[in-house]
Amino acid sequence: MTSIELTSTGMAPDWLKRDQVFEFLKPAASSRLDLSHNCILYLEDLSVSFDGFKAINNLNLYIEPGELRCIIGPNGAGKTTMMDIITGKTQPDSGQAWFGQKIDLLKLSEAEIAEAGIGRKFQKPTVFEQLSVFENLELSMSGSKGVWPTFRASINSEQHDRIDETLQMIGLKALYTRPAGVLSHGQKQWLEIGMLLMQNPKLLLVDEPVAGMTHQEMDRTGELLTSLAGERSVVVVEHDMDFVRSIARTVTVLHQGSVLAEGTMDQVQNNSKVIEVYLGE
Ligand SMILES: Nc1ncnc2c1ncn2[C@@H]1O[C@H](COP(=O)(O)OP(=O)(O)OP(=O)(O)O)[C@@H](O)[C@H]1O
Ligand SMILES: [Mg+2]
Repeated sequence: MTSIELTSTGMAPDWLKRDQVFEFLKPAASSRLDLSHNCILYLEDLSVSFDGFKAINNLNLYIEPGELRCIIGPNGAGKTTMMDIITGKTQPDSGQAWFGQKIDLLKLSEAEIAEAGIGRKFQKPTVFEQLSVFENLELSMSGSKGVWPTFRASINSEQHDRIDETLQMIGLKALYTRPAGVLSHGQKQWLEIGMLLMQNPKLLLVDEPVAGMTHQEMDRTGELLTSLAGERSVVVVEHDMDFVRSIARTVTVLHQGSVLAEGTMDQVQNNSKVIEVYLGE
């Protein structure tokens, strides 16, 4: 019998794993996104506990294709944890999470979820400071991961146009040669949103986008997020009520890990349960 050489980690090489499905044989998850029931994100009866504390408690949430949804709620309500579950960072104890009709998010890894078309913007911008605005977008284009600068030489005119379009959208066209490090805080946030857009997400999750922004930057961010909805769904978690009011259509209020109220900004602000929760903060 021939012996099989193990890899440096002592594991059998990948080609030996019989259940392996090679990447190129897998259908792109995004092509499986089925929106036939007019629902792009479907969270049902989700619960997760940390050391016995229920951070998410029988949470139900439905987002429609193209919707811009704002999520508000006091500190510790479970807003970020909900995003952690959607993006595969946290596994719930029970419940369901579906992307469209057919993609079961709880069966996918973080990378597979991103690949399937869910982009997430964290609060702190993580742009490459030494690279130019253009290069940051170039690097984030789908399929380019890890092969830059080899990829760079082969950027075609279609890809160039996409970067151009994105620069236009995020309002940084005039600054495309600038190193990202010299941008203002707000501009870095927009660049990062642009970097996410290069991956063509169908659902964009944005956690506290306007924290630390000037009023002018906030207005611009509101316009940007509003313009992004329609073609994709956008879920925005934000504490700044003036900002939420300026962009909100449907607002969901989370409290103690579940939905306390849902409706227009006026409806939720006049809801007695919501008033009680915010006054008690
Ligand atoms: N990985 C974790 N381990 C332990 N506890 C956690 C973990 N993640 C979140 N929690 C707890 O779960 C609760 C919900 O936290 P979460 O960060 O989701 O709230 P949030 O609504 O995003 O609050 P904020 O508005 O302050 O950002 C908090 O009590 C938090 O301490
Ligand atoms: Mg949070």
